[in-house]
Amino acid sequence: KIESHLRPQLLEDYIGQAKAKETLKIYIEAAKSRGEALDHVLFYGPPGLGKTTLAGIIANEMGVNIKITSGPAIEKPGEMAAILNNLQEGDVLFVDEIHRLNRQVEEILYPAMEDFAIDIMIGKGASARSIRLDLPHFTLVGATTRAGMLTAPLRDRFGVVNRLEFYTEKELQTIIIRSAGVLDVEIDEKGALEMARRSRGTPRLANRLLKRVRDFAQVKYEGVITEEVARQALDLLDVDRLGLDHVDRNLLTTMIEKFQGGPVGLDTLAAAIGEDAGTVEDVYEPYLLKNGFLQRTPRGRVVTDLAYTHLGFDKNEE
Ligand code: ADE
Repeated sequence: KIESHLRPQLLEDYIGQAKAKETLKIYIEAAKSRGEALDHVLFYGPPGLGKTTLAGIIANEMGVNIKITSGPAIEKPGEMAAILNNLQEGDVLFVDEIHRLNRQVEEILYPAMEDFAIDIMIGKGASARSIRLDLPHFTLVGATTRAGMLTAPLRDRFGVVNRLEFYTEKELQTIIIRSAGVLDVEIDEKGALEMARRSRGTPRLANRLLKRVRDFAQVKYEGVITEEVARQALDLLDVDRLGLDHVDRNLLTTMIEKFQGGPVGLDTLAAAIGEDAGTVEDVYEPYLLKNGFLQRTPRGRVVTDLAYTHLGFDKNEE
């Protein structure tokens, strides 16, 4: 079981991702009524949108155990074989950052996913032979921030593929109100909406900010999160009115001040702000692109007029 009481345990308590939710509900019900394991599921999209939460919900709804691991944590084929062999019938194996599995480990997964079997080599040289070991029927739930980084043979073995989207303000507002209830902190609709606006479309961030704003409300106000309390606290936390944090603003400001607004290549930009290129691409860019602060062109990234205005630059003077 995945802990954190803020994570919903059932599909009906899960807010947002309507498409993933509706289709999963059907696949789960169908698999259960046939008495089979659910087909393998891949979730992809920016971090913090609920991939792990959904894996936990799948296990819960199917009434099976979940084993959680990640691509970088499994170094040898034998480790993957042992994990698979220890699963029980119907169990969920959740592999986070699945694009980071190494080649040999990934190759164990192919027959495991397709035939619920692994091939093990015994002996050496002329007497070497491989024996097939049958596995319990299991459900692999893979998560990745970049579907494009998966090899085709791995991607093709997932029967269900879901792209997770940024949440709307309304959805985040509902999540924040639900979480406030769990944390036993009072919040009004406008306070929740203000927090939702500044949560970067991401429930993980919304819940993290809620805990901090709660501290603020407790110590400096009468424990109630209103619009004004949310504003003050979030300004202090360096999350701006459009939900950009200091890394987002640094990225855009650097593009304007050092690269005349672009176009600038990903690696150059990442080096200029001292971040890893993969992190810029997976973590920072998706939100900036979605909300029109940034555009991708064949020659590199460019900032938009919205970015100039929001950051207080006059485009013609730069
Ligand atoms: N907590 C975190 N993500 C959530 C979601 N999608 N729905 C409800 N509560 C959540």
